Amino acid sequence: MASTSSLMSAVSRRLEGKVALITGGASGIGESTAKVFAHHGAKVVIADIQDELGHSVSQTIGQNNCIYVHCDVTDESQVKNAVDRAVEAFGKLDIMLNNAGVIDDDKPRIIDNEKADFERVMSVNVTGVFLGIKHAARVMIPKRSGSIIATASVSSYIAGANSHAYTCSKHAVVGLTRNAAIELGQFGIRVNCLSPYGVATPMAMASCGVDEAGLENLLNSVANLKGVTLKAEDVANAALFLASEEGRYVSGHNLLIDGGFSIVNPSFQMFQYPDDNRP
Ligand SMILES: NC(=O)c1ccc[n+]([C@@H]2O[C@H](COP(=O)([O-])OP(=O)(O)OC[C@H]3O[C@@H](n4cnc5c(N)ncnc54)[C@H](O)[C@@H]3O)[C@@H](O)[C@H]2O)c1
Repeated sequence: MASTSSLMSAVSRRLEGKVALITGGASGIGESTAKVFAHHGAKVVIADIQDELGHSVSQTIGQNNCIYVHCDVTDESQVKNAVDRAVEAFGKLDIMLNNAGVIDDDKPRIIDNEKADFERVMSVNVTGVFLGIKHAARVMIPKRSGSIIATASVSSYIAGANSHAYTCSKHAVVGLTRNAAIELGQFGIRVNCLSPYGVATPMAMASCGVDEAGLENLLNSVANLKGVTLKAEDVANAALFLASEEGRYVSGHNLLIDGGFSIVNPSFQMFQYPDDNRP
């Protein structure tokens, strides 16, 4: 019979023996996920364009468990190289998290939006995910297993919360996720995406022009779920579920991590307690 400590360790190290590649792993949600995955026993490859930050995150995790690879996800040869480096370093690839993303400046009028900005967002957020799925599938298909995840956004589901390019790119990620899940299901490979509400990461803070506390206050004021602030680690834990055995029958899914934000129509206030009647 298994000892209590070995059972505890199986529960607490949910990715033991797994190898994960995380694009955009040098910062924000990707960085947090790299740490959570490593904590759960995975060997992690961080792929990013911020080399100094990426090396520093990988050193924090530890060189036996994590390496950094320079990889611009819009360049197919670099994505191919990152996947091949994962296999060379750790023998295989079980989990691919296509997380690298960018956002363009918020210009409320489409007539002020530049084609080059639109194409840059689509290139990183959509082409980058396409290339990540393609090259992960290349090494996962022969093994007949794998979990591929993309970081989408609540903007994959609702309109009017972000720029045209960003909203368009995240809707596209869901379509790609669903299509790839259908194709790759025959090889035992699951494909899912995550759709977080706002998280105070460097990208989000720069985009809104506020610091962490300012952004969290702003996000909490319009959130549906009160009393809790969404953190990068919450998104990492959702990725952990999709990557691990607990998620073994989940595929083609867009997992919203938004506290119900995307299903609320604020025009209707049916359940709003008057302030003087709040328990
Ligand atoms: N922060 C939020 O509020 C929020 C909400 C929903 C979804 N997301 C999504 O989460 C993902 C991670 O963003 P974040 O908020 O952690 O921001 P972040 O800026 O902290 O991290 C994004 C990372 O992607 C990297 N990156 C950018 N372009 C790249 C490229 N061409 N190739 C490789 N790496 C590249 C950056 O260097 C950075 O390390 C993105 O896809 C973003 O759209 C963020």
